[in-house]
Amino acid sequence: MAGNEMTRDDVLSGHAGFSEESFELTLRPRHFGEFVGQAKVVENLQIWIKAARHRGEAMDHALFSGPPGLGKTTLANIVAAEMEADIITTSGPGMDRPRDLAGLLTKLKKGDILFIDEIHRVNVSVAEYLYAAMEDYFIDIMIDQGPNARSLRLNLEPFTLIGATTREGLLPPPLRARFGVHERLDYYPPVELQQIISNSARILGCDIDSDAAGMLAERARGTPRIANRFLRRIRDVAHAEAAARIDKRIVESGLKRLGVDESGLSEMDRRIMAAIAGYEGRPVGIKSIAVMVSEEEDTIEEVYEPYLIQNGYIEKTPRGRLLTIKGAEMAGKTPVDNGQKQKGLF
Ligand SMILES: Nc1ncnc2c1ncn2[C@@H]1O[C@H](COP(=O)(O)OP(=O)(O)OP(=O)(O)O)[C@@H](O)[C@H]1O
Ligand SMILES: [Mg+2]
Repeated sequence: MAGNEMTRDDVLSGHAGFSEESFELTLRPRHFGEFVGQAKVVENLQIWIKAARHRGEAMDHALFSGPPGLGKTTLANIVAAEMEADIITTSGPGMDRPRDLAGLLTKLKKGDILFIDEIHRVNVSVAEYLYAAMEDYFIDIMIDQGPNARSLRLNLEPFTLIGATTREGLLPPPLRARFGVHERLDYYPPVELQQIISNSARILGCDIDSDAAGMLAERARGTPRIANRFLRRIRDVAHAEAAARIDKRIVESGLKRLGVDESGLSEMDRRIMAAIAGYEGRPVGIKSIAVMVSEEEDTIEEVYEPYLIQNGYIEKTPRGRLLTIKGAEMAGKTPVDNGQKQKGLF
């Protein structure tokens, strides 16, 4: 592939190019048996699926939330496979008009799944139609305009809506309330990522030492997508060196090329922490951070902040973001020299 230089933040961002997409498809688990981790979520889903199949009904509408790359789309497809149902995939921003939605809904057969990615981005008018469709399986569409305007009711087959969102808080409350199943995906612990990396290596036909997979797992920000993308780059390094196996040394040199340090934090993580550190203990609003690091507010809130918060680097307060002691140390600010500042950190 030409122009194959990929920075750490390309790897982090959800924007996959075409070859990245087909790469992900190759590695995407098809059944629960191949899906590593998220034990509680998987257990719950298996119960809902079993019950629905037992009754011969569609599964309840399900909402999957959590940061990018943790397996929401993967799970939606697994649910379809386990229900032996067809799945139609669309995304919030792709549906501007109620007509777009009607076109999809009327295609669904009994028990089929409509998967709406980035469901927090559906237009309000489309969301209104979803309410009746989800609750009572019908949709009223307007025909004609002006004096001839009238509405026509279309009955729908009982279907399952699966919504995925990186920003659950942005969902209109009436929409959120219509999902019977809410599952939140969390960052994966290193042991699970190590398992995912080993499985991926097997699928890609490359050998990786288990301590090398473990090292990679520690640096992949708790995210399977990132772990797989790192593995892909590191496999390139191994090929370039004509190495038969990926060992720790190759992982280390590959990670260095990608600009990943020992903490596994990305360049953008560090810039965000440096921006907050610049305020010397005063809380900083998301808008100011966005300007200082030249990144969109949404991306900071969806991609970077959840990891920094969960790992105890920053803290979100009603007045803004603050560095924790751990964050201040990481940002190169010693939080102990001044009692006043120390207090301001919390
Ligand atoms: N539990 C898992 N076990 C194995 N591989 C996984 C798991 N979760 C995710 N993956 C891998 O990570 C890739 C990204 O997952 P997926 O596309 O489902 O994430 P997502 O949550 O939908 O992300 P986004 O919010 O960006 O749409 C998958 O293609 C798959 O290879
Ligand atoms: Mg997805």
